[in-house]
Amino acid sequence: MKILVATTNEGKLREIKSILSDLDVELLSLKDMSKVIEVEEDKETFLENAIKKATTYASFYKIPVIAEDAGLEVDVLEGYPGVYSARFYSIEYGGKLEDESLSKDERNNLKLLKLLENKENRKGRYKTVVVYYDSDKGIGIWTEGVCEGEIAQKPQGSGGFGYDPIFIPQGYNQTMAQLPPEEKNKISHRGKALNKLKELLIKTGVVEIGAKS
Ligand code: IMP
Repeated sequence: MKILVATTNEGKLREIKSILSDLDVELLSLKDMSKVIEVEEDKETFLENAIKKATTYASFYKIPVIAEDAGLEVDVLEGYPGVYSARFYSIEYGGKLEDESLSKDERNNLKLLKLLENKENRKGRYKTVVVYYDSDKGIGIWTEGVCEGEIAQKPQGSGGFGYDPIFIPQGYNQTMAQLPPEEKNKISHRGKALNKLKELLIKTGVVEIGAKS
């Protein structure tokens, strides 16, 4: 059986493949598709964005799809960056940070650190919603994963992606980017949501355990 993991983000793809590696399925990514269609993530919640991606890709490619939408919510910023996490640097909230010499991730992180300057409450959380959708069989499943933590004073570490260099998971004194990938997968929002999805896919008989050789 083939499932399309609807992402072009290498960091996410690596994590998703590693977590689902013991299933008897062939995981494809958008990079394996000859034609890639763009799906705009313009909804107000992670769930709506993930459903939009899963249903659009499933009807276009005619195979079951796993899609997810994730982001970082910071308490003193009313939940921002939230659904704007990927392009936080470019939105009006908190002022735009357009510095072409920096990567998008670096711009996002810098803007967040600036907004949190002198803030005592640095609590936040990563959230992920994962959707599995098979239009042929009419199966739709969604799960959520949350990883509580706080925003560091400065970036540290080179693992992971996105906000990982400035996100310290609860109970740790290192950033997510300083943790080994297996450790991140154990505690991360994406790890939790995907493990729940895996359990449901096995329970409902959609997939079986057994690594694809
Ligand atoms: P999307 O789910 O592709 O819309 O991306 C959301 C954005 O949230 C990413 O571009 C990252 O900036 C951020 N993000 C989501 N998951 C993670 C994670 O595990 N670590 C760091 N940043 C993340």
